[in-house]
Amino acid sequence: MAQIQALKGFADLFGKEAEMFTSMETMARSLFSLFSYTELRTPLLESTDLFARSIGEETDVVGKEMYTLTDKGNRSITLRPEATAGVLRAFVESKMYSQGNIYKFFTVGPMFRYERPQKGRMRQFHQINCECLGAAEPENDAEIIYMLSLFLNKLGIHDFSMHVNSLGCHECRPHYKKALTDYLLQLDKETLCEDCQRRMHTNPLRVLDCKVPTCKEYVEKAPKISDYYCPECKDHFARVIDLLKISNINYTISDTLVRGLDYYVRTTFEAVSTGIGSQSSIAGGGRYDGLVKQLGGGDVSGIGFACGMERLAMLAKQPEANPPLFYLAVLDKEARNVAFNIAQNLRSAGIKGEYSFADRSMKSLMRQADKSNAKYTLILGGDELQSNTIVVKDMAKGEQETIPQDTLLSYLQEKK
Ligand code: HAM
Repeated sequence: MAQIQALKGFADLFGKEAEMFTSMETMARSLFSLFSYTELRTPLLESTDLFARSIGEETDVVGKEMYTLTDKGNRSITLRPEATAGVLRAFVESKMYSQGNIYKFFTVGPMFRYERPQKGRMRQFHQINCECLGAAEPENDAEIIYMLSLFLNKLGIHDFSMHVNSLGCHECRPHYKKALTDYLLQLDKETLCEDCQRRMHTNPLRVLDCKVPTCKEYVEKAPKISDYYCPECKDHFARVIDLLKISNINYTISDTLVRGLDYYVRTTFEAVSTGIGSQSSIAGGGRYDGLVKQLGGGDVSGIGFACGMERLAMLAKQPEANPPLFYLAVLDKEARNVAFNIAQNLRSAGIKGEYSFADRSMKSLMRQADKSNAKYTLILGGDELQSNTIVVKDMAKGEQETIPQDTLLSYLQEKK
């Protein structure tokens, strides 16, 4: 019968890769809790409207990449392409907020985007995502950028650049948009790529981060957003930069960093690495004041970021191996019940180990013991069964001794 394969762009995670994901999640949980972030788990499926309304109809994510389906009740639902929209929907729906308070959440889990799969770009990928709601001050922007840098460093990732920019606000950005559109319109139409010819009418800021070389050339000569900030946006960004300097964050101001989602205002940032091929963005985020209101909530400001776990896994330091302490080799069928009990008692006392289920020769059992990387091989045969003893072999030293079974637990606890 034909074998069934995983869908293109969907991966199974085994062994070391799965361990890496667990270790990144553990690090995220412990580090983010120091900054008072708490975990929020939102559904994988949401109303399609949620993403259209927050991420923006004109974005690639909403326009081309969503896994959208109609359910049996004829509702349009979508597998989440990112976490921010769902977190804000949950926040608004729970009515948990009161003015003046700060709410910090992190989410970990799979996201879905119908993109062309390649190294570092999957259709099901995983994000570690943080959102801070209720704080409009620049201190908050700097804190979250600091936390992201620290997180990357703790994972052993040091070789990245932190690009930062401000996109202005709903007051000053329209003036910039107009200046940019005027500039683009006076160019010979054919000079821009097909996508940018469309973008300049629908979302001109996206022309700024087009990767096509000819578009890049024209972007260099385009008006700069920093010349259009209102005094409040100018002060806000200057303060963020001051704080990044104070906290020794290595940053680069990148005035073409616009991000691919429409909800951003003021500060945006992206951690970029050259170590993972063409998909160089390992994390990205920004401020999105106004989005909570747009989703039916109050006037609550917000900022957040997400890291792509598949991309982090390519750069992060492999977690230390955690081999079993024992491998229990059973040499005699008669000893199986006693051996089974010993193995379960050791595990219930917190000792990691393996146990030979099948009847095998001594040679084959020792090969298995070697392969398991266990520090000690425990050997139980007919003689040991008779004398209530067990042989303990130190695999590194090659030495072995026979001890009473009832002292085994304390013996191994000492060696842990
Ligand atoms: P994003 O830039 O779309 O932002 O995604 C964040 C990160 O997710 C990227 O930097 C990348 O590492 C990873 N990523 C995105 N798409 C893929 C893919 N197809 N395969 C593998 N990794 C991928 C957001 O999602 C925003 N919600 C971040 C945010 C949170 N902004 C404010 N709060």
